[in-house]
Formats: sequence, C-alpha cells, structure tokens
Amino acid sequence: MDIERSAQSPVTRVLVVGSINMDLVVTTPVVPQLGQTLAGDGFATHAGGKGANQAVAAARLGAQVSLIGRVGRDAFGAQLKAGLVAEGIDTRWVLETEGVPTGIAAITVSQSDNAIIVVGGANLALTPADLDNADAAFAQADVVLVQLEVPLDTVAHAARLAGRHGKPLLLNPAPAQPLPEALLAGCALLTPNEHELAVTLDAETTEPAQDWRELMARLPGRVAMTRGADGAYHLGADGAMHHQPGFAVEPVDTTGAGDTFNGALAAFWPLGMAAAMRLACAAAALSVTRAGAQSGMPGRAQLEAFLELSLIHISEPTRRYAI
Ligand code: RIB
Repeated sequence: MDIERSAQSPVTRVLVVGSINMDLVVTTPVVPQLGQTLAGDGFATHAGGKGANQAVAAARLGAQVSLIGRVGRDAFGAQLKAGLVAEGIDTRWVLETEGVPTGIAAITVSQSDNAIIVVGGANLALTPADLDNADAAFAQADVVLVQLEVPLDTVAHAARLAGRHGKPLLLNPAPAQPLPEALLAGCALLTPNEHELAVTLDAETTEPAQDWRELMARLPGRVAMTRGADGAYHLGADGAMHHQPGFAVEPVDTTGAGDTFNGALAAFWPLGMAAAMRLACAAAALSVTRAGAQSGMPGRAQLEAFLELSLIHISEPTRRYAI
C-alpha cells in the first residue's frame, strides 16, 4: 500500500482475544476412513489458531492489532510468537504458560477441503484474570474480536470488558457450542457459518437444512452468517436480508477462510456492514487460493487489486462503495 493511501485510510484498532496453534497439516488424495492407513501426499507446519489467524488477517489489511492469548514455554510457542511480531501484532499480552504445551491442530487437507482436530493446550489456560491484566488493551481498541477456542468464561469476560469500555464485540462462534443468552446479548455481531448458527442458538436440530433465516431473526441486525462459496448474509435490524455473494476463485485449501473473513470484518468494521462484508468476502476468497491458514491471507494492496477498487477514499460514506 502506498503512503498516500495509508495516510488517508482509517486505521482500525482491533483487539483479538483467542487461540494460538501450530497447525500440523497432512495432505491426502482422499479422506481417510476410520481404521484405514493411507499414504499422504505431504506434510507441513503452519502458524494457526483462530485467534492468531484472525489477528494476522486484520493486521495484513492495515489494522493495528493486539492479541491476548497463551502459548506454552516451548519451541512452537516461541516460533508462533515471533511470527505474530513479524506481522506487526502487539504481543505484549501473549503469555507463556509453564508445563503446558502450545496448542496444536492436526489438519487433514483432501481435495481442497479439510478436517481438523484441535488440542487446546495453553489456550485453555487463558483466564478472565489475564484479560483484567490487559484492561488497557480494551480501553485502546475500536473493536474486540473473539472466538471459542479459549475457555467460555474467558470469552464471557471479554464481552463484559468490551461492554464496560463501550467497545463493539464481534464473536465468531467457532468451534460451535450453545451460548448463554447473557453472552449473546453482549455481542454487537455474531459471525457463524450455517452449522455454527444452529448450534450456537441451541436450535433443536443442527441440520443445515433448517431455516437459518428464522434463526438469524432471533438476533436481528446482529448476525453475519457465512455460507462458503455462496458468500455471507446479514439480516438488518429493519428485517431486510443483505446477501453478499462470494467471489469465484479456484480453491486450494479452505483452512482459515472463516478467520480471514472475521479479521477483515473487524479491520473494516468502521465502514459499515455492507462494505465490511464485501471486503471480508473478497479477502476470504483470496485466502483459499493458497495452502495454510495464514499463508493465503491477502494484504491490503492485493485485496484492492482483486477488487479493482481503490480504497483511497475509504473514509467517505460507505454507500459510495456499494461494492
Ligand atoms: O480456523 C482454522 C484454524 O482452526 C486452524 O488454524 C487451526 O489451528 C484451528 O484452530
């Protein structure tokens, strides 16, 4: 991004509270069945974790990002923290936990889709007291972004602190679990996919065929639902459904697409829902064109080029960018 553009664009201060994992990625020609031994095509380690991924996505798009999280006092932890620093992320609230390993995710990528097993490790040691110790980060943020790979009482406390400081809370309910009403009430925006929407709102069935529009209507104006290649939906407080179609790309690895969407949504939050959702869908589309959760996340210049859109006047009213 050139200096003129960065000077004229707003810098959103994004605080992410969330997980930091090392992703251990195996690629296979077909999805393995239970009890089957397969010859894989390849193996790689990538920086991951929904919290770290969303922090990186927002930082690459020009946001000023702080991350609150925990890693183990081990080689993965040191490597991941160094990677976050290299992305320009403020890691002063990324703590090291003695005697607990850094979180990992065992990921199988097959035919451009994935299956993931997460071992939380140090992420599960992140406490409400850790957030109290980082109160200044809440005070400085424009927007707070959380997911569900750290303990739920810590997520609930993040919502309380965001509320206390008058900051909007974006909650990406992944991995999905039913959420208490009090936490839902504290969210400015919930960003589930279709499955997560049903689980989060504790619907009687988690079948995707259930009417997700009715579920969204339970929190009017406060749900942006992603639907893979179909894009994203937002039901306005006025009852009008806004659909942002997805962008056509050739997918290589969908790991981290949702994280890119969330990081971008936070980074572009001041632009309003329609513009932020369009930019977030475009960023997510770009992210699936490369292997690894973070490796495909675009920078702002790449996103601009993809959209053939100048963000020079991005601080002007968002309707100019009904994009
Ligand atoms: O959303 C993708 C992420 O989920 C991966 O990076 C993995 O670490 C898991 O947390």
